[in-house]
Amino acid sequence: MRESCPDGFNLVIEGLARFCAPDENLYRRPDGTYEPSLAPVFYNPEMVENRDITMSLLKAILISWGKEFNFLDPMAATGVRGIRFALEVANQSGKDVNLFMGDISPIAVELMKHNLRVSGVDSIHNISIQVNHMEANEQMYHLRRSGVALNYIDIDPFGTPAPYIHAALQSVNNGGIVGITATDIAVLEGKYPNTLFRRYGVRGVKSLISKEVAIRVLLSFVLRAAAIYDRYVDPLLSYHIKHYVRVFVKVFDGALKSSIYLDKCIGKMWHCPNCSFSYFEKLDYTSQKEMKCPLCGGDMTIISPLWICDLVDAKYVKETLNIVEKMPWLAKSSLNLITMLSNTITSAPVIRMTYLARRFKMSTPPRNRVIECIKSYGYEATLNMCYNDGINTNAPTDIVTICISKRGSAST
Ligand SMILES: C[S@@+](CC[C@H](N)C(=O)[O-])C[C@H]1O[C@@H](n2cnc3c(N)ncnc32)[C@H](O)[C@@H]1O
Repeated sequence: MRESCPDGFNLVIEGLARFCAPDENLYRRPDGTYEPSLAPVFYNPEMVENRDITMSLLKAILISWGKEFNFLDPMAATGVRGIRFALEVANQSGKDVNLFMGDISPIAVELMKHNLRVSGVDSIHNISIQVNHMEANEQMYHLRRSGVALNYIDIDPFGTPAPYIHAALQSVNNGGIVGITATDIAVLEGKYPNTLFRRYGVRGVKSLISKEVAIRVLLSFVLRAAAIYDRYVDPLLSYHIKHYVRVFVKVFDGALKSSIYLDKCIGKMWHCPNCSFSYFEKLDYTSQKEMKCPLCGGDMTIISPLWICDLVDAKYVKETLNIVEKMPWLAKSSLNLITMLSNTITSAPVIRMTYLARRFKMSTPPRNRVIECIKSYGYEATLNMCYNDGINTNAPTDIVTICISKRGSAST
């Protein structure tokens, strides 16, 4: 009886969670594909990597956390994220966990309460649950005002997360984490420059490396918002997959450090729309010079202000990768993504072999050969997480030029 679902909903299994979600057959587009936004409560099985990675990162973090952990999902829909956190991370963790969940939709709130019972989360002894029918910003400010020290907040709206970032950055405790999903990918990638500027305060157009730029736009917005409150952020893990960007940031108090981060991590990206080569520059460079691409000589464009520091924290990615091995229920695609993130250099922009080769009128060199060549000169080079023709490297342009040509490695 515990497992029965309301009419129009089916029992679904994701990770260790069993819960009721809309019957996909009732909410299909004319082409037959399931459209989650048509359903009375949102559930998108396509976002499994998003939830898997949230669980593994939080599991890695909870191990060395203090006695109490406060988790908030203010846009919880079916409640799947909080339920999975309870079953896969909090259960038997030895910590006292407070699970706060909410949604603006009354149907969602009723369903998540039902799902907390269906999944058995309501009877786990170290977890207390509070479900609120509230607007997300209202719930974050309400919990803050009530003195709840939130250690994790998940922002996962349909579309832009921008309207929820200020409340999250103010409500999370010093040293707490905010996980942010953005599905307004066309805007973040620069397809609509006016909206990009209006929503995120970033000027630029779509580039040849727009997927990586999308992550940097979001992080730029988040750091600049945090700075208003004398806070700063450290990205733990960031990626672009399918139709969304996901970032996890650790939020800290500190006006001085906030200014240092703004100076160090917010800058410009010069981008060559001919060969894809790009590089970062600090914001204090004021002249309106015209830039020529140091690789191919083409005119460069500018995207600014962007996050120009690392996108991932190697320590946290490594810890997450270690934990994933103990979570065999996670999707293979999630494991692949974390493995890829653990092997990626993110301090410099991606370079795309296809465009470089086209510009130099040669056939596209195999990525692995270029990477091996760069490494033979003593620099780092890795595959890129966003593009299967992309490499990330800290090598200077002359080494990249040598390595994309057929001249081979330092030893040849
Ligand atoms: C994309 S879904 C969340 C999916 C969920 N996090 C998951 O992993 O399955 C967005 C949810 O946010 C809710 N929502 C939209 N605007 C909101 C707001 N301003 N405050 C609270 N909830 C909101 C919607 O009703 C919907 O359930």
